[in-house]
Amino acid sequence: MTDKIQILQDKIIHSKSIVVLTGAGVSQESGISTFRGEDGLWNDFKPEELANYGSFIKSPKIVWDWYEWRKDIIMNAQPNACHYGLSRIESKKNILIVSQNVDGLHEEAGSKNLIELHGNIWETICIKCMDVQKEKSLHKDIPPDCSLCNGLLRPNVVWFDEIIPASKIDNISEKINHCDLFLILGTSGLVQPASLFGVYAKQKNKYVIEINLDETPNNHFYDLHITDKVGEVFNSLNYDF
Ligand code: OAD
Repeated sequence: MTDKIQILQDKIIHSKSIVVLTGAGVSQESGISTFRGEDGLWNDFKPEELANYGSFIKSPKIVWDWYEWRKDIIMNAQPNACHYGLSRIESKKNILIVSQNVDGLHEEAGSKNLIELHGNIWETICIKCMDVQKEKSLHKDIPPDCSLCNGLLRPNVVWFDEIIPASKIDNISEKINHCDLFLILGTSGLVQPASLFGVYAKQKNKYVIEINLDETPNNHFYDLHITDKVGEVFNSLNYDF
């Protein structure tokens, strides 16, 4: 165990309450592409053309084809050592996971205290009657329609031209106010509001550890940056505490 990972281990052991922000890098070792960086999804697809309500209304089939392609990849992915490690910590500590990932792998690993900030790719919401359904399967007909009202279904995720309710942000800020440790795992720190939580945690004098293969814009604010694969780091932790 390196000195930096030993600090992470000690901080986890001595913290009563932990808040964790996760991003696409956490699922990279499960075989799901990140959005940015080498091999990032957005290198081939323009987000404004796909993850956008206006585009969806104009071309629901194109947007759905992209989501079904992603769902197919995610369907075959398994949680990795980071997802499982966080779930094991939850059995011993007060921990909240705030994930920008829509893949549902934290839940699959057993995490319960979880906020999926950008939604869940397995959920649909009807744009007419707002009925929400969750099913881990691919759709037969694209675009799918609502079994209750025949309205158009959309993925229940947050798109670029949409906002996250303020009450959700307030709830997370409140949890940060009362935590001892804030972890930022595998996120580029480029998308708000998630990117602001780490800075907020520092303003509140919390100990902040970031694990990311790359430097991030707010790096210099944090107490510790571990430049390793997050799954490998969690694999090397000792959970017998
Ligand atoms: P990004 O793809 O922007 O960033 C992933 C980060 O993880 C990068 O900084 C990588 O260097 C790092 N990384 C990759 N593999 C890693 C590994 N194994 N261990 C540690 N770090 C690793 O993903 P997010 O920050 O999650 O939003 O992106 C935020 C949001 O932008 C997404 O939720 C999505 C996207 O637009 C919406 O769709 C609304």
